[in-house]
Amino acid sequence: MEIVHTPAAMSAWSRAARDEGRSLALVPTMGCLHAGHLSLMAAARQRADLLAVSIFVNPAQFGPDEDFAAYPRIFEADCQAAEEAGVDVIFAPDVSAVYPPGFQTMVRVKELTKGLCGASRPGHFDGVVTVVAKLFNIIQPQLAVFGEKDFQQLAVVRAMVRDLNFAVEIIGSPIVREKDGLAMSSRNRYLSPAERQAALCLYQALQWARRQAAEGEQDCGRIIAHLTTAIADKPGVRVEYLEIVDNSDLRELEILTDSARLIMAVRIGRTRLIDNGALFPARDSKIITTQGAT
Ligand code: PAF
Repeated sequence: MEIVHTPAAMSAWSRAARDEGRSLALVPTMGCLHAGHLSLMAAARQRADLLAVSIFVNPAQFGPDEDFAAYPRIFEADCQAAEEAGVDVIFAPDVSAVYPPGFQTMVRVKELTKGLCGASRPGHFDGVVTVVAKLFNIIQPQLAVFGEKDFQQLAVVRAMVRDLNFAVEIIGSPIVREKDGLAMSSRNRYLSPAERQAALCLYQALQWARRQAAEGEQDCGRIIAHLTTAIADKPGVRVEYLEIVDNSDLRELEILTDSARLIMAVRIGRTRLIDNGALFPARDSKIITTQGAT
């Protein structure tokens, strides 16, 4: 496995791979690799001859009061995990190599970024799509794999690729969960044992909504109202957003459809966690009364 730090060296590596007729997949990350990232790498490996992983904690996607400085950086351990996962090259640039003096261009996806994480983290997705566009230009992969845990990010990246004609296939890869259901995230390591327990409210909410849907509940407002109260009742947990949206355009739904997805962000102490999952309406749905607790 090679480790390269400059855009020029990374582009040269990719060019050499292309000249040999080998296809290249990219998994973009901010490091602190866990089983969720490894599943993205496995999905990428199956689809291309070579696998590149970028490790770059991107300052442009963090707000002034967010955790850019505290974000866990464990580069040596990440390199070892990547090597074991069969990664061919790691691209780990410095901030000054990605945003050199004079840098002044940002990419913006307008509509899809207005709600959900875009509303609570102004400018976040501009930072994400700008760095992803740069990674695509530097690395020139044929495909890139993103996790469905950041469901809005996946939709926003797909829109950017479509709108700017990037020749990169975007693959979404399912959420990987701990045994008790907590979605894997680099930020889980911020949680105290009590907060870690409280964080299960996200998966419990998803399971509860799925049961309601399976039993015939169709009214999204009722599901959301119940879950918002149930989560807000948990000590130390604050709901940032909780919506049922359409998978394709993240439009808020009133009635469950086959493409409905529950999507959530909460703050537990100082940690912000997100989760989501598809809801499957019962075939012959009837409106039922919402009851029971998460
Ligand atoms: O999902 C992430 O880790 C980041 O948002 C990404 C896609 C690597 C861009 O910095």
